[in-house]
Amino acid sequence: GGAIPFYGARQAGIVTPAQDRLHFCAFDVITDDKAALVDMLQDWTAAAARMTQGRDAGTFGAVGGSLEAPPDDTGEALGLPASGLTLTIGFGPTLFRNAQGKDRFGIAAKRPAALADLPKFPRDALEDAISGGDIGVQACAHDPQVAVHAIRNLARIGMGKVSVRWSQLGFGRTSSTSTSQATPRNLFGFKDGTRNLKAEEPQLLDEHLWVQQGDGPEWMTGGSYLVTRKIRMLVETWDRSPLAEQQTIIGRDKSEGAPLTGKQEHDEPDFAAQDGEGQPVIPMDSHLRLAHPDQNGGARLLRRGYNFVDGSDGLGRLNAGLFFMAYQRNPHKQFVPVQNNLAKMDALNEYIRHVSSAMFACPPGLLAADDYWGRSLF
Ligand code: HEM
Repeated sequence: GGAIPFYGARQAGIVTPAQDRLHFCAFDVITDDKAALVDMLQDWTAAAARMTQGRDAGTFGAVGGSLEAPPDDTGEALGLPASGLTLTIGFGPTLFRNAQGKDRFGIAAKRPAALADLPKFPRDALEDAISGGDIGVQACAHDPQVAVHAIRNLARIGMGKVSVRWSQLGFGRTSSTSTSQATPRNLFGFKDGTRNLKAEEPQLLDEHLWVQQGDGPEWMTGGSYLVTRKIRMLVETWDRSPLAEQQTIIGRDKSEGAPLTGKQEHDEPDFAAQDGEGQPVIPMDSHLRLAHPDQNGGARLLRRGYNFVDGSDGLGRLNAGLFFMAYQRNPHKQFVPVQNNLAKMDALNEYIRHVSSAMFACPPGLLAADDYWGRSLF
C-alpha cells in the first residue's frame, strides 16, 4: 500500500520494481494554444504529485468542495492507499510536428533524433487508432482501481486540451525490473524478464537506459525513451503446440526458465552447443537467440510489459496478449535492431501479431514542487 516518491532525479515508474497493474493512456493534444497546454501540464503535475501519495487529485477532493460544482476528484479511490502508484510521462513525435507537418507549439527544433519515427517492420499489422499519440502517461499500481483513477482524473483535468487517443489496461507484470522480484510469467506460460536490465545495475543503466549528456537535446539528459507495442498472442494456437516445441521456440525450458543449454534460470545460454545431430541446441530461430544482445550489437532493453485480455474477439478466441513496453537510451540503436531481427525470423511470429505501436520521450524527473512536466521543453 506504500507511496513511491514523486520527485527525484529520474521519473518513477521506470526502474521502480514493476507493480502488478497498468493503465497506459495516449493523449492527443486538441488545442493549438501553447499557454493552455502548459497550464494543463502544471495542473497535471500537481494532481500527479498528490495522487501518487494516496491523496485526491484536487485540493478539495471528491467530497470536500462545493455542492454546486463537479468535484475536483472523481472519488473511486477514496479510502484506498497509494498502492505504489507511479505516473510516468512521455512526449510523442507528433507533439513536435503533427500529422499535417505543423509545428503547433514551436518545439520542432527540440525534437530528439532518437525520437525519429520507427520504421515499418515486416509483419506489422498496426492499427492507427490505437497507435501513436502526442503525450503518453503510464500509470502503474498494485491496485487497478488506483491506476484507472489516476488516468481518469488526468483526462478529466485535460478536458478541452487533450483527448484520449487510446488506452490499455494490463495485469500481471511480465518483467522484473529489480533483483528483489521473482520473474513472472507471460500468457504463453514462460518466465519473462529473466535477462532484463535491473535497477541494481547502475552502470548498465547508464549505458543502455538513461540518456546521457551529449546524446541529444539537453532537456532529455537523464530521461529515457519508451517504445510500446501491443502484441496480440494467439493463445489458442499456442495451447495446441507440444511442450517441446514451445520450449525450442522460446529457447528456454518452461519450468525453470533455464536456457536449453543450462539448468537454472540465470545460467548463461551457450549458443555454440550442438546436439547429437550437429544442430544448435538453442535453435537459430528461437526468441532467446534472436533477442540476445550478442545478436544485436550488444543492444539491451529495460522491458516493463504487462499481460492483457481485452475480452474476446467474437470468433471464439480470447483477445489476449502482451502489452510490450521497453525503456532505452535510443530506440533506433536498441528496439529497432532487436525488433528487425525478431520480425524477420523469430519462431514466435506464427503465434503473435503486433497491432499497435507508439514511442515517447520521457524526460528526467522533477526535483521540486515548483517544477512541472514538460517545463524544459516549452
Ligand atoms: C526474452 C517472451 C516480444 C525482446 C524473452 C523471454 C521470453 C520472451 C519468454 C525469455 C526470458 C527473458 O529473458 O526475459 C516474449 C513474448 C513476446 C516477446 C511472448 C511477444 C508476445 C519481444 C519483443 C522484443 C523482445 C517485441 C523486442 C523487440 C526480448 C529481449 C529478451 C527477451 C531483449 C532478453 C534476451 C536476452 O538477453 O537473453 N522474451 N517476448 N521480446 N525478449 Fe521477448
